[in-house]
Amino acid sequence: MKITKICCIGAGYVGGPTMAIIAQKCPHIQVTVVDLNRERIAAWNDADTVNIPIYEPGLSAVVAEARGRNLFFSTDVAKAIDEAQMIFISVNTPTKTYGSGKGMAADLKYIELCARQIAAIAKDNKIVVEKSTLPVRTAEALKSILDETGNGVQFQILSNPEFLAEGTAVDDLLAPDRVLIGGDSSAAGEQAVQALVDIYANWVPLDRILRTNLWSSELSKLTANAFLAQRISSINALSELCEVTGAAINEVAKAIGMDSRIGPKFLNASVGFGGSCFQKDILNLVYIAKSYGLTAVADYWEQVIILNDHQKRRFSNTIVKTLYNTVSDKKIAFLGWAFKKDTNDTRESAAIYVADDLLNEQAQLAIFDPKVSRNKMLADLDYLATRSSKDNAKNATSFDEPYSACENAHAIAVLTEWEEFRAYDWQRIYDKMQKPAFVFDGRNLLDRAALEAIGFVYFAIGS
Ligand SMILES: NC(=O)c1ccc[n+]([C@@H]2O[C@H](COP(=O)([O-])OP(=O)(O)OC[C@H]3O[C@@H](n4cnc5c(N)ncnc54)[C@H](O)[C@@H]3O)[C@@H](O)[C@H]2O)c1
Repeated sequence: MKITKICCIGAGYVGGPTMAIIAQKCPHIQVTVVDLNRERIAAWNDADTVNIPIYEPGLSAVVAEARGRNLFFSTDVAKAIDEAQMIFISVNTPTKTYGSGKGMAADLKYIELCARQIAAIAKDNKIVVEKSTLPVRTAEALKSILDETGNGVQFQILSNPEFLAEGTAVDDLLAPDRVLIGGDSSAAGEQAVQALVDIYANWVPLDRILRTNLWSSELSKLTANAFLAQRISSINALSELCEVTGAAINEVAKAIGMDSRIGPKFLNASVGFGGSCFQKDILNLVYIAKSYGLTAVADYWEQVIILNDHQKRRFSNTIVKTLYNTVSDKKIAFLGWAFKKDTNDTRESAAIYVADDLLNEQAQLAIFDPKVSRNKMLADLDYLATRSSKDNAKNATSFDEPYSACENAHAIAVLTEWEEFRAYDWQRIYDKMQKPAFVFDGRNLLDRAALEAIGFVYFAIGS
């Protein structure tokens, strides 16, 4: 089956970049990305592609090339579903905030809504691709909804989880470590898998396209995120031990990373992982393990989250303790709010939780992030509902540039590893700060020797 029309439901951090690359690499395929969020779609259609709603290095150029040619963004979900032969579901799957599984299970209401809409609209056979990260065996539920409520149309369901990392999404999509496609072993299932393989084969070498059964594919995505997060919690756990023993975490990381069985990546100790995926996917894994009665497995993975929460809290406690046990009315500058560099995504960013702790201690926060707006910062704090919006707005101020944010501050906390922070005029910053001037480097980003030579009291995690 030759695919010429694709639709993707969900124009978020996954749907937008993924479809932009498919459109760029497959000019013969018409790709329509739809979303219920009108503002988001309007931003994707902004005349100047610099204003697209997601910041990713290189993405605006890809969109500029393909948009209007074979890449379209629209709010007309029904039309796009009707016209497409292949439909990617790339909607959000957050942790449930109500009912059974609250705080752990994935909330599949958006997925189910998509399935019902596809079933209601489809008049000819469709391939439905799970792009969202889903609990293992979700395809079964999807199939049942599609088959029971459809008009006798044949649906094939594929699992094609996305492994891109925010901040490097374009590079990851252009040269993925692997593309994973799970499908049914029936003849029709294999044809559907082949149709998707043919799309990726336009730019991905065939030996990087992996075919598995549906359940292996669904579970592999959760497992990959769990392993990545576990590695961060492992190094972070040791960072605390380094601080009390005189070992330096960077030295330990280098020493163990040179063991080829361990490898050097993802060994940077930090204030903790954030992002929309790691926590929610591990919680989901824990929930699935529990639901099969596998308590030891569930407890093992849950510890990754417990350690991550501990690391964030530990960082804010260190700031308070070091500033003579009080930060009340002290100005603390935050460099960074995004959960990592090269993205404007702030979901579950460690900065939010450190800010919340310090606001509880009555600190005055001055925040600068190169890509995050003031409204977003305040919305993140308001979402925690720890205090009123008015109090958040009064005590957390955002700045358009770093030097004013740091002026008169008692301390600077580095929360995101933006490269540009290294290149700042740190002498100028020091001169305008309260003394002693502290830097709490939550990302092990800055040059300790250079900052100490200027006169800063420098704290880095794990040393
Ligand atoms: N963000 C990442 O780095 C990443 C990486 C790999 C996988 N994932 C997974 O991909 C999925 C999407 O993540 P995201 O970060 O792109 O989420 P997102 O919140 O940025 O985007 C999801 C979009 O879907 C839209 N949507 C929801 N229901 C809809 C419906 N019925 N019809 C039309 N639009 C609808 C929302 O309005 C939203 O714009 C999640 O399952 C996530 O776990 C995310």
